[in-house]
Amino acid sequence: MEKSDQALTLVLLALLGGFLASAVEVQPSINPAVVGGTVMFSLSPPMSLKSGSWALGETLILNWVGDQQAFFPGYSGRASVNLTTGALTLSSLKLTDSGVYVVQSNDPALSANASITVIETVSNVTLSTNQTDLTEFNSSAVMRCSVSSGSPLSFLWMNGSSTITAGIRVQVTDGNATLIVTNVTRYDSGPFSCHVFNLISNGTSNPVNFTISYGPENMALTVNGLSGTSFPVGSNLTMLCSVNSSPPAQLQWAFRGNLMNTTGAILQLFLVSQNQSGQYSCLAFNNRTNMLNSITKDITISKSEQQVMNVLLLLLSLTGFLSSLPAWLTQLLEDFTE
Ligand SMILES: *[C@@H]1O[C@H](CO)[C@@H](O)[C@H](O)[C@H]1NC(C)=O
Ligand SMILES: *[C@@H]1O[C@H](CO)[C@@H](O)[C@H](O)[C@H]1NC(C)=O
Ligand SMILES: *[C@@H]1O[C@H](CO)[C@@H](O)[C@H](O)[C@H]1NC(C)=O
Ligand SMILES: *[C@@H]1O[C@H](CO)[C@@H](O)[C@H](O)[C@H]1NC(C)=O
Ligand SMILES: *[C@@H]1O[C@H](CO)[C@@H](O)[C@H](O)[C@H]1NC(C)=O
Ligand SMILES: *[C@@H]1O[C@H](CO)[C@@H](O)[C@H](O)[C@H]1NC(C)=O
Ligand SMILES: *[C@@H]1O[C@H](CO)[C@@H](O)[C@H](O)[C@H]1NC(C)=O
Ligand SMILES: *[C@@H]1O[C@H](CO)[C@@H](O)[C@H](O)[C@H]1NC(C)=O
Ligand SMILES: *[C@@H]1O[C@H](CO)[C@@H](O)[C@H](O)[C@H]1NC(C)=O
Ligand SMILES: *[C@@H]1O[C@H](CO)[C@@H](O)[C@H](O)[C@H]1NC(C)=O
Ligand SMILES: *[C@@H]1O[C@H](CO)[C@@H](O)[C@H](O)[C@H]1NC(C)=O
Ligand SMILES: *[C@@H]1O[C@H](CO)[C@@H](O)[C@H](O)[C@H]1NC(C)=O
Repeated sequence: MEKSDQALTLVLLALLGGFLASAVEVQPSINPAVVGGTVMFSLSPPMSLKSGSWALGETLILNWVGDQQAFFPGYSGRASVNLTTGALTLSSLKLTDSGVYVVQSNDPALSANASITVIETVSNVTLSTNQTDLTEFNSSAVMRCSVSSGSPLSFLWMNGSSTITAGIRVQVTDGNATLIVTNVTRYDSGPFSCHVFNLISNGTSNPVNFTISYGPENMALTVNGLSGTSFPVGSNLTMLCSVNSSPPAQLQWAFRGNLMNTTGAILQLFLVSQNQSGQYSCLAFNNRTNMLNSITKDITISKSEQQVMNVLLLLLSLTGFLSSLPAWLTQLLEDFTE
């Protein structure tokens, strides 16, 4: 062979080598791969490499020359190369096995790579909170969502069956793993839960409820089921006090500003007299919010027109006035007063 022919052959080989190197691809058998699983990186097209190395980024996994393989720390027993195809098999996958896998060889000269992500299934999603007894307009609800395992993680927060989005009172922090609802209202009682997911798995937490104290507020006082405030002497009065409060408010009655012995929603007065006229108050106290509220009604107890007429007739008959009237008028007055 002439020198120029040899040179040409070398150039051709170099070109071929360059062509092969750029044409070879590494193909992972699965991506993303799962923790504990196995992945194989094949060369496409498959080729027999006399020697070479596989590395994860800059970190060597193994070298081989002929049928001798040498493993680097952390890979013994879970990595192997197929000397016929150059394929790398890696088992017992860990999260840290994510990255770019590079194969290099001098004979033929090539360098190729492929990247994979190793992900972990989500397990044991738990929603925790330190405090479930809150006060309306004066507390924040703080919830933390955790898992025993899982990577990467995405979080979805739920209130009942609706998803929660961040807003003025709703903050999501800690990579979306913590939900804070500030300045809670009575409607923020939940049940809250978190849904955690990644490409291969998902899980939903236990529900968490909050007990939110509020009131007392919106008080009302009725007497005998009416909104009126005037009643005749001798009536029986049933006063009913109603109030919005959680937990239920403790109720106490007062008359003309003095506490009465009566507690509870109902105050009953039998056969009332005029001196029982005055201001009746219902006082409400919520021992969780420490708030006090009250409502007062001015009740007038007076003789009815009927009662006034009876007294008048009695007086008239006593003075002998009735007997001096015509019979028809006496009858009319008696009919009227019956
Ligand atoms: C290497 O790969 C070839 C083709 O896939 C297969 O037939 C052979 O069994 C593999 N060798 C080893 C040692 O796994
Ligand atoms: C992977 O291969 C691409 C070209 O295919 C190259 O640009 C890149 O630098 C390689 N990455 C590594 C880490 O070798
Ligand atoms: C689930 O997570 C909770 C909270 O982190 C932990 O207390 C519990 O032991 C875990 N259960 C399992 C089966 O891993
Ligand atoms: C509960 O309290 C502990 C200790 O104060 C704190 O470390 C933790 O983050 C709190 N958890 C929540 C959900 O607020
Ligand atoms: C809490 O909410 C109430 C009603 O929406 C509002 O009046 C109050 O100013 C809020 N308090 C704080 C600290 O944001
Ligand atoms: C709000 O909470 C703070 C501290 O917990 C307490 O000092 C304050 O009295 C509360 N205010 C009301 C209106 O409940
Ligand atoms: C948190 O959730 C928001 C909305 O779903 C999302 O855009 C964001 O990327 C998430 N952040 C993290 C760290 O996952
Ligand atoms: C959650 O995982 C189950 C299987 O465990 C699957 O059937 C379901 O579709 C997944 N749900 C979501 C919202 O990804
Ligand atoms: C939480 O509240 C819902 C109704 O809102 C109720 O059905 C459920 O039993 C409550 N759960 C707990 C643990 O109290
Ligand atoms: C008022 O109560 C008294 C005592 O319980 C009863 O005897 C009387 O019949 C009641 N009067 C009316 C009008 O209900
Ligand atoms: C209220 O109760 C106290 C003791 O329980 C008693 O001494 C007092 O006389 C009662 N007052 C009235 C108006 O019934
Ligand atoms: C607070 O009020 C509730 C409801 O009225 C009652 O059951 C509870 O015993 C009260 N607690 C205290 C410490 O007074």
